[in-house]
Order: sequence, then C-alpha cells, then structure tokens
Amino acid sequence: MYLLLVGPPGAGKGTQAKRLAKAYSIPHIATGDIFREAIKNETPLGKKAKEYIDQGKLVPDEVTIGMVEERLSRDDCQKGFILDGFPRTVNQADALTNILEDLEICLDIVFNINVSDQEVINRLSGRRVCSECGASFHIEFSPPQETGVCDECDGGLYQRDDDNPETIKERLVVYSKQTAPLIDYYQERDLICVIDGEKNPEQVFVKIKEALEAIK
Ligand code: AP5
Repeated sequence: MYLLLVGPPGAGKGTQAKRLAKAYSIPHIATGDIFREAIKNETPLGKKAKEYIDQGKLVPDEVTIGMVEERLSRDDCQKGFILDGFPRTVNQADALTNILEDLEICLDIVFNINVSDQEVINRLSGRRVCSECGASFHIEFSPPQETGVCDECDGGLYQRDDDNPETIKERLVVYSKQTAPLIDYYQERDLICVIDGEKNPEQVFVKIKEALEAIK
C-alpha cells in the first residue's frame, strides 16, 4: 500500500503514520523526522535544514526532493510506504509523480487530515516528543505516565524548537500558501480521502483503516 498523509502542522500525521506502519508493516517516511535526525547528528544536511525549520519555512525543494528519491528507492519501500510531510509543494508533488513513475509505483490514496488552526495551536503548544524513539505525547490530551519520561522507552521528552507560538503561526501560513494547493492537485487525480482529524486518535485511525479496507 502506497499512502500519503497531508494536513496542517499538528494534524496528527505522525501519530497516525506510526499506527499505520505498525498495522500494515510498511515504512513510515517523515521528511521532518529525517531532518531532525540530521540536525541531531549535526550533518551538513541538518545544518542547512535547521536554518529553515527554526523559522517555520520549508527546506528548499532541491535539498528535499533528492533526499526522498534516495529513501523511496530502498528495498523496504517495494511493498509500500507511508509518506508523512512530503510532498509539501506542487513542485515536490510533480517530482514525486516522476519518481514513482520510474519506480513503477502507483499511489493508492492521499489522506487529507483536517483540523482547525485553533486545534493546531492547542496541540503543538502542548506536544512533547521522545528524544530516543520519537514517540509523541501531549501534556494535556495524551500525557506520559511520568512527567518528562517516554512511556515506550523511558527516554527523555523535549519540546520541539519549532513548537513555539511564533513559529507555529508561520508554519500555518506556509501550509495554507504552499501545501494546501496539493489537496486540489490530488483531488484532480481522484486520490483524496478527507478525514476529520479532530476526533480522538483511535477514532481517526479507525476512519483511515475503513478507507483502506474499502480500496483493497
Ligand atoms: P514536520 O515534522 O513534518 O512537521 P509538521 O508537518 O508541521 O507536522 P507535525 O510533526 O508538527 O505534526 P503532525 O501532523 O505529525 O502531528 P502529530 O502526530 O505530531 O516538519 C517540520 C519542518 O520540517 C517543516 O516546518 C519544514 O521546515 C521541514 N520540512 C518537513 N518536510 C518538508 C518538506 N517536504 N519540504 C520542505 N520542508 C520540509 O500530533 C501533534 C500533537 O497532537 C501531539 O502532541 C499528539 O500527541 C497530538 N495529537 C495527535 N492526534 C491527536 C488527536 N486526534 N487528538 C488530540 N491530540 C492529538
């Protein structure tokens, strides 16, 4: 199964992608996670990406597209993948179309996870992420059993640098200008499935699974 998750920052793309990866045994490929790993390891890619991520801007396409092309050509993507956070511009979507054509892969579905701007602000300002395994928590909506400690691996939880009010606002602007046009792009290709992202994570997951069962 070849899936894309589109939606504003904090829509729950990462939360749902992790569940889907486990349920369907396919890789979860999140460009944001790849950049954060590179930042943590202080690689040249990480240094470049950090300049943009800290401002809530998109990392330039010439950096991002090649990185995704390399990732999708690995063997573990042959049976399927969940792309989270890519494409984010029409140019990236065109590039993805070409990459998939070369790999002889057809996308099955594109989930558009809908949430309001206010919900985005509430979620991102309370998000905490595990520095070891990347699991995501929320201080109010899904708190860890012990404050500051990951339930999955006992790693320390941290707040992402881009989850501050100023950067969240900019990320929302960037989403509506540069990424929202992808909804029409994939609608024209008859691939969009709209999901109400404001239900609880389990309810959202059930709706996604129902849609996947329907296209099998
Ligand atoms: P990225 O990491 O992709 O960030 P994002 O799209 O802004 O998405 P988030 O990770 O913030 O949110 P999410 O939708 O995954 O929500 P989550 O499940 O964590 O990208 C970061 C940056 O990298 C970008 O700004 C850009 O600079 C750069 N970048 C990445 N890809 C790029 C690309 N293709 N091109 C150029 N630049 C790129 O959930 C959020 C919170 O809500 C959590 O606390 C969670 O516990 C909670 N939550 C989740 N679901 C629910 C629910 N249903 N109800 C209540 N709470 C919920």
